[in-house]
Amino acid sequence: MIYPIVVYGSSVLRQVAKDIPADHPNLKALISDMFDTMYKSDGMGLAAPQIGKSLRLFVVDATSLADEDPALADFKKAFINPRLELLGEDTEVMNEGCLSLPKIREEVKRLNRVRISYYDENFNFIEEEYEGLKARVIQHEYDHLDGILFIDRINPLRKKLLKGKLSDITKCNVDVPYKIKVLK
Ligand code: NI
Repeated sequence: MIYPIVVYGSSVLRQVAKDIPADHPNLKALISDMFDTMYKSDGMGLAAPQIGKSLRLFVVDATSLADEDPALADFKKAFINPRLELLGEDTEVMNEGCLSLPKIREEVKRLNRVRISYYDENFNFIEEEYEGLKARVIQHEYDHLDGILFIDRINPLRKKLLKGKLSDITKCNVDVPYKIKVLK
């Protein structure tokens, strides 16, 4: 099942999402639907709040970029109830976008390394360290679980300049090749 993407202006994107119990019904189907929804909208990551579910779950798939960066060849995963730890002090600035903020791209400064613990689809506990683009995607998606959007992490002057675009998104007045909706 393909879900519409919940966009900026929706309260669910601003909530702190809740942990998922191990007996959550149809969790595997939900995860599979999230991958399908992400592929349909050509995204590299998708967090549950972006389909209107305030749950601590996100999926990523950056394997399509493996030609440019072989380290991404296995970067297709679901992260359940993750806990993120930022490592070191090395930062990097990169251009980011978000399915919930269509047609907006901005430079975002983030730390280069993270440690993340989470449960996989079978509720196995896993702890891993990531760097570079993987660490960036994880930080972006993890932010969604805490009600944070990447525009909260940009220069306030830049954010001011986005006011018109953001207002259009809250009215779904933006032309995107995937289904969107605002959840009040
Ligand atoms: Ni996003």
